[in-house]
Amino acid sequence: MNAQAAILYEVKKPVVFEDVEVLEPGPHEVLVKWTANGVCHSDYHLITGDSPHPLPVVLGHEAAGVVQKVGAGVETVQAGDHVCSSYIPSCGRCWYCIGGQPTMCALRDKPRWFMHDGTSRLRTRSGRSLHHYLQVAGYATHTVLPEQSVIPIRKDAPLDVVCLVSCGVLAGAGPVFNRAKVQPGASVAVWGCGGVGLNTIQMAKLMGAGKIIAVDVMKQKLDWAQEFGATHAVDASKEDPVASVHALSGTAGVDYAFELVGTQKTMEQAFNATHRGGMCVVVGVSPAGTRLSIDPGMLLQQRVLTGTSFGGGHQRTDVPMLIDLYMSGKYKLDEMITRRVPLTQLNEAFDLMLAGEVKRSVVVYD
Ligand code: CU
Repeated sequence: MNAQAAILYEVKKPVVFEDVEVLEPGPHEVLVKWTANGVCHSDYHLITGDSPHPLPVVLGHEAAGVVQKVGAGVETVQAGDHVCSSYIPSCGRCWYCIGGQPTMCALRDKPRWFMHDGTSRLRTRSGRSLHHYLQVAGYATHTVLPEQSVIPIRKDAPLDVVCLVSCGVLAGAGPVFNRAKVQPGASVAVWGCGGVGLNTIQMAKLMGAGKIIAVDVMKQKLDWAQEFGATHAVDASKEDPVASVHALSGTAGVDYAFELVGTQKTMEQAFNATHRGGMCVVVGVSPAGTRLSIDPGMLLQQRVLTGTSFGGGHQRTDVPMLIDLYMSGKYKLDEMITRRVPLTQLNEAFDLMLAGEVKRSVVVYD
């Protein structure tokens, strides 16, 4: 069948929009018609080349849609089911999945730009094989995914909203309840208050954190942070954020620092902003080759430096749980979406994301 897709042929060039051919789903694969895909910074790292990737590739990894058809042996979904994409598949059978860490699933060891058999289901009109970004390829109207890369969700949830849960929402909120396990009254600092960090702030508030200190260099993002639950704002372009967080915490550092920017500087700042015995959780995606410099003496003071992928928990239950929170009015998602755009405005949507002018843009399909 035909689909429209956004294709990256060359780094540092805009993505182009083409009609592509979608092949039939193979065994343990599903054909999905996407309704929407959120515009996330991780895709942009492929465009700049900061995340080296084989090309050409159909980008997009924050998608929600409806299953159209399933291949042989598919057991967990059927045609008509509503699904969120899972950019980290979970097989449910490997050492990691059985051991309770499905975001570390052994399927991550295979190249995640093709189906599990090592081939593509997307072709250009001239027959050239296309890579599927993170086996999701959410910037296409239709695509095929491995069964393990879709998560069934409730049918009454608006797909053009809950697509955000497929990356930014779970990536930002999950570390708060899965990794840090923030306690009531705890002090929290959040570096980076864009489309992911606002979820860290919102979940910290929901978990009953006391002080929630937002750190960013953009006034607009600090204002958003306070709308989503931050109690204090630190403008790192004007003040030393480590000193400010130390002072605001009242305990010479916070219980938990979350880093969602992805630079050496901000990761080191977040770690240095914790008190003895505190925890720093890295969520931001950094360019290949990034290294940190920290004082190991701070580790002897029982600080924890850690990180998470896709929320660091159980994506197949965390995604529906967050959607339930949204549907019951306890979690803000509508307020996360600044703009809805057609696929052909994707390059402009990336520009607005870089300018820090949007919380999240969402690409919607007809
Ligand atoms: Cu993402």
